[in-house]
Amino acid sequence: MMRVGVLASGYGSNLQALLDVAAAGAPYEVAVVIANVATAPALDRARRAGVPAYFVDHRGRTRRAFESDLARLLSEARVDLVCLAGFLRILSPRFVSQFPGRILNIHPALLPAFGGPGMYGDRVHEAVLASGARQSGCTIHLVDESVDGGPIVTQAVVPVLEGDTPATLAARVAEAEHRLYPAVVRAIAEGRLLPVLSAAVSAGG
Ligand code: GRF
Repeated sequence: MMRVGVLASGYGSNLQALLDVAAAGAPYEVAVVIANVATAPALDRARRAGVPAYFVDHRGRTRRAFESDLARLLSEARVDLVCLAGFLRILSPRFVSQFPGRILNIHPALLPAFGGPGMYGDRVHEAVLASGARQSGCTIHLVDESVDGGPIVTQAVVPVLEGDTPATLAARVAEAEHRLYPAVVRAIAEGRLLPVLSAAVSAGG
């Protein structure tokens, strides 16, 4: 059974999708959920599923202290894979190097477009609509020291429809996210996808 740690900051609908597919029998389990926001609904979702859930505050302390708490909890939970799911903190190279090739993120657009610092939530969908793009979607990528710039694992495409608002587009993208993220984690758990190889390649190894 592959052990997954999920980092979240908010609503946690992607976490829920990961929990639901695990509960339906996929060969992975969500072993720990950590949020940097005490009131994040993601923590309640974890607790309802019987998964250990921790709030770790990033405020009033150094990034290093915050991240060392994250790393300790993830290591204590013996996670094989870390999934960022709406986690709104940037992770330092020091943290990333502790889980080489084993941190995934999901982004609500087709990277490399519409990513980078400040591109999250409705801002992403506003930018997609303003660009006139006919398609959007979501991207799962390996996390490296860049923001939204790590090697792309896979993407799902959705159409942009006439009359879309950021909210209607966000809902369509979210549906795709909820299918794609568990499918990728399941594929890794079943040995059909090896994220660690991509990391080795990008590191020149
Ligand atoms: C998702 O759109 C994800 O792509 C982005 O943040 C959002 C998180 O939503 N990184 P939720 O908390 O999983 O509902």
